[in-house]
Amino acid sequence: MPSQLTARRSTALAGVVRAPGDKSMSHRSMILGGMASGVTEVEGLLEGDDVLATARAIQAFGAKVERLGGGRWRIEGAGGLRTPQTVIDCGNAGTGVRLLMGAAAGYPLTATFDGDQSLRKRPMKRVTGPLADMGARFGWLASEDRLPVALTGGSLRAIDYVQTVASAQVKSAILLAGLNAEGETVVTEPEKSRDHTERMLRAFGAEVAVTPAGEGWTITLKGGQPLRGTTVKVPGDPSSAAFPLAAGLIVPGSEVTVEGVMLNPLRTGLFETWIEMGADLTTTNERESGGERIGDVTARHSTLRGLVVPESRAASMIDEYPILAATAAFAQGATVMRGVGEMRVKESDRIALMVNGLRACGVAVDEEPEGFIVTGGAVPGGATVHTAHDHRIAMSHLVLGLAAEQPVSVDEPGMIATSFPGFVDLMNGMGGLIA
Ligand code: S3P
Repeated sequence: MPSQLTARRSTALAGVVRAPGDKSMSHRSMILGGMASGVTEVEGLLEGDDVLATARAIQAFGAKVERLGGGRWRIEGAGGLRTPQTVIDCGNAGTGVRLLMGAAAGYPLTATFDGDQSLRKRPMKRVTGPLADMGARFGWLASEDRLPVALTGGSLRAIDYVQTVASAQVKSAILLAGLNAEGETVVTEPEKSRDHTERMLRAFGAEVAVTPAGEGWTITLKGGQPLRGTTVKVPGDPSSAAFPLAAGLIVPGSEVTVEGVMLNPLRTGLFETWIEMGADLTTTNERESGGERIGDVTARHSTLRGLVVPESRAASMIDEYPILAATAAFAQGATVMRGVGEMRVKESDRIALMVNGLRACGVAVDEEPEGFIVTGGAVPGGATVHTAHDHRIAMSHLVLGLAAEQPVSVDEPGMIATSFPGFVDLMNGMGGLIA
């Protein structure tokens, strides 16, 4: 991989492509497969660096993990996790480390978790706090709230937890720990977050009860439930599909179809928003696959109008604001994105990075503590954007560069492989100019 990649203004993009497997589901299939007894077979696994780190981790915790072929993996769980002989290096993956900590906390083991320079900057107490309330012990090895951290698990008691941020990672960590806790673990979410853990736990044979609670819901799980290996079919990742679709919307004359995209309503906030902005975005061939609704999504070049994105939609598109912002740069008027303070604690401070990157490309952006406003118009481009080790910041600016007046370059393009290996070839296969 070169030290930087450059996207140039492209002529009409055309193609029918498949997005890589969903990252959230891929992590979960490895982790639940490793905790279960018996064999789990996964189809369509995202073979990105983040998930491969989770595969290595679950192997270090005692599961047998084998790659059968492209996207096809076999995991043989030992019905529980054991003390690993190595440090669990989760690379760039927040989902990997937070869910693994939850999973491991329920077993009598010790483990040290670490990650790359980006993951070491991200807050961990949102997960270790509730896990400690359940009885797990944590020792911070460098500084409080940051990796690396040593975990001692086992003998957990259930808790009743009310989420303060809509975070599927926190919910999932608590539920996975709750599987081996004494009593009934209850998590209440005032705002719903993605429910892949709940769905997959059921597929692995656990009972999970969900009851409405205002705008959100309460999830209840009895401790002491064993998991049984199963078959998992991973659909295409809507968060990754967003990049070729965005290119289809902003490059004049384009028509881009991404097949097999997961359409779980807790993940499709970006698609709703684009349609409200005037995007010609259509879904065909809707069907069920692996317990999720999926479909083929087509984006055609559109005249977009800015809008105020409802804050209540944030959780269903939290990873998509960077690419929304890139498309908003081509829209008429202002796109207002507020109530997204969580963006600041992702793989990078995504508000700051998008504000800096878009400004460097000549786009008008206002920064707020918990949001930002992009005013669309001409996009001069002609900049090299710093991506702070963040795959989505890199892909968002490369997509922008396909329609900007002058080329746009990004640094650290190797990070794109965390979630979207093959991104450059896929985009160039549709006529994109990225090199
Ligand atoms: C994820 C949840 C989200 C999201 C992340 C994946 C998951 O994080 O940003 O990329 O798979 O549970 P939070 O739960 O912290 O919002």
